[in-house]
Amino acid sequence: MKTERQFLAETDPEIYDVCMRERRRQEEGIELIASENVVDPAVLAAAGSVLTNKYAEGYPRARYYGGCEVVDAAEDLARQRAKRLFGCEHVNVQPHSGSQANMAVYLAALKPGDTILAMDLNHGGHLTHGSSVNFSGKLFNFVHYGVKKEDGRIDMDDVERKAVEHKPTMIVCGASAYPREIDAEAFHKVAQKTGALLMFDIAHIAGLIAAKLHKDPVAWCDFVTTTTHKTLRGPRGGMVMCKAEHAKALDKIVFPGMQGGPLMHIIAAKAVAFKLALEPSFKDYQKQILANARALADALMEYGFDLVSKGTDNHMMLIDLRNKGLTGKVMEQALNEAGLTVNKNAVPFDTEKLAVTSGIRIGSPAVTTRGFKEPEMRQIAAWIDRVAKDIENEDLRAAIKAEVKELCSRFPLYAELV
Ligand SMILES: Cc1ncc(COP(=O)(O)O)c(C=O)c1O
Repeated sequence: MKTERQFLAETDPEIYDVCMRERRRQEEGIELIASENVVDPAVLAAAGSVLTNKYAEGYPRARYYGGCEVVDAAEDLARQRAKRLFGCEHVNVQPHSGSQANMAVYLAALKPGDTILAMDLNHGGHLTHGSSVNFSGKLFNFVHYGVKKEDGRIDMDDVERKAVEHKPTMIVCGASAYPREIDAEAFHKVAQKTGALLMFDIAHIAGLIAAKLHKDPVAWCDFVTTTTHKTLRGPRGGMVMCKAEHAKALDKIVFPGMQGGPLMHIIAAKAVAFKLALEPSFKDYQKQILANARALADALMEYGFDLVSKGTDNHMMLIDLRNKGLTGKVMEQALNEAGLTVNKNAVPFDTEKLAVTSGIRIGSPAVTTRGFKEPEMRQIAAWIDRVAKDIENEDLRAAIKAEVKELCSRFPLYAELV
């Protein structure tokens, strides 16, 4: 008898090598990309299971293939647990990604050419919130709101003004790079006033909402979309929740409207992640994500870093590097060489191109999973400061990389896995 890993090593040594090298990279480096996490071994097992073999077009007990009675149970469990976690009326767990979750909502509720009001990509929105290079911006008429220059917070007056002027069929809230809590009730008021549907894309903050640490938006929204792989700590995938009145249209657009066979192994892995998220320890994890983000933000500000909105209410922060004379591109590269993985990110009112940017985005979910607490977050801030102060110094980066590796060895990711 052999493990799946042994089969991979024998059948395809090159891909086995990629998997092992990536595992080592994750073990030995500090992952600060706000949209990433480290899943439980049980999630890995479900995602790598024989459920990948099964075609199951359709929904439980209404499939277009035989032999679905076993995998039906996985989708039922995923749906039931998602409903308990978020208190939603209806859920579809089949979207392959967050982008497809958003596409499903737009296509279920709108007609091509309809107007949607959403957050500007340059102010923290997502590509699927109307970027001109994305399907969303090509199919729909997007109008964008942004944040205020003086405090980096969403300008609700701008939202209301644009909603009144453009009469959108849908308003979208939620973001990829916004460090403050988003007020679903305030968006609901604007949507009510202007007769728009409301969608909240909680991809980044789903874990905080599931743990009830950010206000519950479900009651205020027609649709709530999410990824399952960020703060929620599940497999890479998407999900849509909605009011019962939209259930039929949503399910019909996900299948057969947009997707073919659902990824049953990933749906099973989503179910496992939701089970874990329903446990009391998940709330402790989410609380530590917040505490760690705050500790890192405070320490960075003490080192003179300019944080958009001067701090964070969630798992992420955005550093505007202009006062340090650095760009996002340079800093991302330098930190990577020091064993700290971040992504360059536009800051509101950025003056650099998107391929360069003036900022970096930093998040605490992955390092919190590996057990880092406030002292480790302060250490990370110190390393970031040393790199920024001596940006040309390659020896310094190599020295920090060794220190990072030593710290990580005390917080192993998959210690119990062979
Ligand atoms: C707010 C938001 N929505 C949607 C997505 C898209 O998710 P995916 O990468 O799974 O398509 C992201 C991903 O970063 C996101 O941040």
